[in-house]
Amino acid sequence: MKGLILSGGKGTRLYPLTYTRAKQLIPVANKPVLVRVIEAIREADVTEIGVVIGGSTAQEIRDTLGDGSQWDVKLTFIHQPSPDGLAHAVKISQDFLQDDPFVMFLGDNVIQGGISNLIRDFATNEWNSQIVLKEVPNASSYGVAKLRPDGSIEQLIEKPKNPPSNLALVGIYMFDAHIFEAVHAIKPSPRGEYEITDAIQWLIENKYQVFPHVHQGWWIDTGKPNDMLEANSLVLDELKPLIAPDAIIENSVVDPRVTVQAGAKIINSTVRGPSIIGEHTVIENSYIGPFTSIYHHVVIQQCEIERSIILEESELSDIHDPILRDSLIGRKVNVQRGGDKPRGLKMNLGDNSRVLI
Ligand code: G1P
Repeated sequence: MKGLILSGGKGTRLYPLTYTRAKQLIPVANKPVLVRVIEAIREADVTEIGVVIGGSTAQEIRDTLGDGSQWDVKLTFIHQPSPDGLAHAVKISQDFLQDDPFVMFLGDNVIQGGISNLIRDFATNEWNSQIVLKEVPNASSYGVAKLRPDGSIEQLIEKPKNPPSNLALVGIYMFDAHIFEAVHAIKPSPRGEYEITDAIQWLIENKYQVFPHVHQGWWIDTGKPNDMLEANSLVLDELKPLIAPDAIIENSVVDPRVTVQAGAKIINSTVRGPSIIGEHTVIENSYIGPFTSIYHHVVIQQCEIERSIILEESELSDIHDPILRDSLIGRKVNVQRGGDKPRGLKMNLGDNSRVLI
């Protein structure tokens, strides 16, 4: 069994963060989503993994992941010259995949419970493909499955205006080599892409066995800022807390569900969990509330923050009235209270920034 991670997309719905960073590298509970995907595949004993990259984020992803030895896997990068869809990504990966069965995992998906059970079920059954479905309130944003009363798949449709069910296709798929017949047979969709949904529909129409697994835990496709915050909350909730031996905690109240990473300092502060304070980050005279991830080398002074993600090397001071909440703050961002009169809001924001006051 091999792995195939798709990590091409531009992440336009996460602008401005994704002007300068691949969306798959934005951390959830201080670990990039893409690294969580690699770890989930590794946990299922799959170590030979292809990573499809393309566009302006390709180099950054290569540089961050290296050869994969850090996670005990062997990575092969596959360049997708243009963003022509998920089925196109499979097509260009044929040399790497050869005739092996494989699990394809979209590099921006986070799923509860990992994929070991799914891979075991696929390996022990005679299926040509296994797909994962999840009940969602907004099915028209996804590929959607219509099941028959016996649980088999009647139809799969990509982002239908009027979804025939509330079962979305999760971005995790298992295939044998018959998928190559399908990706060569299908035509581009109305949005001009070779859709994996259409390729699986082709398998069904050609009498191949596609098994639908309905996932009961949570699943997040981290496409939009609120999805990122939601995934962050869910992952933090399951994180086993740990205080690094060299972390310094002085005159502070730190809840048991807080992770404090190496070299971090918490001084005169209250930190409630679940939350995580990154390496060499300083929290001083502040309150950090539940569901907050503060990445490495951040300085926070006289602030009150809840349910937010703050990326590396940012500096926030005197932000407490009102509290900073439900926020996604990029790298090297500086937010502070100015002392000059008249009091006002001074902003220097990048394109597509969003501020709610
Ligand atoms: C893709 C697939 C869609 C699937 C979704 C899951 O959509 O085309 O069928 O439901 O991933 O994350 P995209 O995120 O590319 O719009």
